[in-house]
Amino acid sequence: MRILVIGSGGREHAITWKLGQSSRLSELHCAPGNAGICEAAKCHSVDTNDPASIAALAESLKADITMIGPEAPLVAGVREAFAVRKLRIVAPSAHAAWLEGSKVFAKEFMKRSGIPTARFVACDSVMEARAALNQFTFPVVVKANGLAAGKGVRIVNDSTDFEVAIQEMMVQRVFGDSGDRIVIEECLVGDEASLMLFTDGRDYKLLPPARDYKRVDDGDRGPNTGGMGSFSTPGLIDERTLSRIQTEIVAPTLASMFAEGHPFEGILYVGLMLTADGPKVIEYNARLGDPETQAVMIRLESDLVEILDAIIEKRVSETRIEWADDSSVCVVAASKGYPGAFDRGKIITGLQEAGSGEAVVFHAGTARDENGNFVTSGGRVLGVTARAGTLAEARARAYEAVGKLSFEGIHYRKDIAETSR
Ligand code: AMP
Ligand code: GLY
Repeated sequence: MRILVIGSGGREHAITWKLGQSSRLSELHCAPGNAGICEAAKCHSVDTNDPASIAALAESLKADITMIGPEAPLVAGVREAFAVRKLRIVAPSAHAAWLEGSKVFAKEFMKRSGIPTARFVACDSVMEARAALNQFTFPVVVKANGLAAGKGVRIVNDSTDFEVAIQEMMVQRVFGDSGDRIVIEECLVGDEASLMLFTDGRDYKLLPPARDYKRVDDGDRGPNTGGMGSFSTPGLIDERTLSRIQTEIVAPTLASMFAEGHPFEGILYVGLMLTADGPKVIEYNARLGDPETQAVMIRLESDLVEILDAIIEKRVSETRIEWADDSSVCVVAASKGYPGAFDRGKIITGLQEAGSGEAVVFHAGTARDENGNFVTSGGRVLGVTARAGTLAEARARAYEAVGKLSFEGIHYRKDIAETSR
């Protein structure tokens, strides 16, 4: 089969790495890709915000399956653009992707479907937001309604911080249209976990739970990032809680989307808080998580081409998916300045050494310079990922490998998978 993957991050490198192991693969394409992905896949340029051009590319490549990594093309209607050309794609409809694209939609959906989540109020103006504050006690969570590249959430501790947050979102419009509506919600306390699933709209198969690290500095300090690392290990969510999550959250989410005429087909990501009152949804994403995917793909024993085909053909219930009993850890090496303004074009050394042992080095923000050197080209540069029989061993392997890498200004967290948070 000819497969096209859309995206350019560590998640997409992990996806293409896994697809590359399939006996059913004949050609592997990626757009736009990065320097690491282009080693094993043929890379093409494309505007990932433009569904019609993604569909045109898939048609010209005669792709049998297209798999979408990031959220923007989903919300922009890539599934619909593929339907026009009768092309096969793993992606939810634009409406189903609203579970990620609009926090107000997601919260109202959960409320009417009886899915446990933080209590909330949706607000359309600064006045409404100030009035709604009376219904909460600090700390409260303020969220921009629309997509904000993972940065649209603020946890505020007093009314001064609250005023700053609503002014930034609604008046200064730092997230553009995404902040025209906001959600105010209660702050949940507990351990976080990311649970992803493959679904054809009716049936689903869980991926092993993972945890990501959003803050830039050790000890969960500093600003939020796209994710500085992740791990996955058997028992991350105990069996009883996992079965509760399936009954109270996963099954009703899929059933309710189906009943409302918008079956969710593709990959659903449920961000969870495991509270003293039971598991609650923090957010949905309509795609695989980054960097959770790196940690999870390395544990996948089954053929990913077969899984993607099963999603499209609505055969998910009959498809056996095997996962290694191992643990895995992904440590992200980032550019100086990230998550703020960061440097680019720094020569990366040690890639061969880091990837020659037990670890896999997934590229995120990398490119080649005119001399063929690998250079940095993004905030998150590399995701060094390792798997082993125990979490401690996987962690040791990942850190040993990341220690072999270097570029000017490299930084990474030292506490990924150290303890459960
Ligand atoms: P999101 O972009 O929705 O994933 O939110 C980013 C991060 O904000 C989450 O990973 C949580 O750590 C935190 N967060 C979001 N909503 C809540 C909430 N209701 N209570 C506590 N923390 C939250
Ligand atoms: N790691 C969280 C996300 O992909 O949104």
